[in-house]
Amino acid sequence: MNRLTLRRPDDWHLHLRDGAAMRSVLGFTAARFGRAVVMPNLKPPVTATAQALAYRRRIVEALPAGCGFEPLMTLYLTDNTPPDEVDRALESGAVCGIKYYPAGATTNSDSGVTSLERTFDVLARMEERGLVLQLHGEVTDPEVDVFDREKVFVDRHLARIVDRFPALRVVLEHVTTRAGVDFVRSQGPGVAATVTPQHLLLNRNALLVGGVRPHHYCLPVLKREADRLAVLEAATSGSPKFFLGTDSAPHARSDKESACGCAGVFSAHAGIELYAEAFEAAGALGRLEAFASHHGPDFYGLPRNAGSISLVADAWTAPPSYPFGDSEIVPFRGGEPVRWRLATGTA
Ligand code: DOR
Ligand code: ZN
Repeated sequence: MNRLTLRRPDDWHLHLRDGAAMRSVLGFTAARFGRAVVMPNLKPPVTATAQALAYRRRIVEALPAGCGFEPLMTLYLTDNTPPDEVDRALESGAVCGIKYYPAGATTNSDSGVTSLERTFDVLARMEERGLVLQLHGEVTDPEVDVFDREKVFVDRHLARIVDRFPALRVVLEHVTTRAGVDFVRSQGPGVAATVTPQHLLLNRNALLVGGVRPHHYCLPVLKREADRLAVLEAATSGSPKFFLGTDSAPHARSDKESACGCAGVFSAHAGIELYAEAFEAAGALGRLEAFASHHGPDFYGLPRNAGSISLVADAWTAPPSYPFGDSEIVPFRGGEPVRWRLATGTA
């Protein structure tokens, strides 16, 4: 049987939610990853360091005894974030970045940024102090087609950010387009991108052909095949600018299977296995470890994890649903085969 052993990977973009919902999904991530960057789009959003520390405590308290998983916290940037919050975040030692959601771009983004200019003083402090900016890179302009929102964000906003703040370290989260990939590639080592499993494995046909598939709906939305291929090529290229960020984003089944379904794909139950499948299909399994376990910590200036995990090429069927608080979630590939399996007992 094919076995693949990797340095323990990290997830550089994760939605854990809170309370019982968080406790339902945390174990999937903690079983696979050494660390995860925990997104701040709770209700209300995590805008201040004190809130991030309290959220972090709730996560750590929900971990099984002896589990070494480390949540890396983020703050939610608003029009009113004070530059001093950057100092508090860094001094806490627990916050690895600040997340920029354009207001209205996605789930719980109503308190996000209404115009780039309003964040300039905070971005200047982040550049000066070395705190990473994590971008949801989509415009919300109603004139812009939903499939073009990433490209237009790159052209209108990201280009301005890197021009004005050349030393700011920026992650274009969940890159989905050739335009996004090309821009990241054109920049220096301070500009990187995370890549989700669904954007490596699926194109927009998986959302729309044969009926609307709400469990494949996420934001940024799945793109056309040429974009998927560009993202896959970037992720498997060995470039240190691209690293693993699942964007696993659980929503109760009833909130997805609805007349106005929520955006988010839950993938934490197979959070490394799905990448192995994508890399294998691209003939690049040998590059999975660098993408999953090296590039992220190197970019964030953190040590690589010490332990390892193993995967075996032994297909299993993902369950059709998992418990999620007092409801349930439908996982990515629910009821369908996943080609790689996490070996138990890996250190
Ligand atoms: O699909 C998404 N779901 N995209 C996001 O940006 C947010 C996320 C969520 O929180 O559910
Ligand atoms: Zn996200």
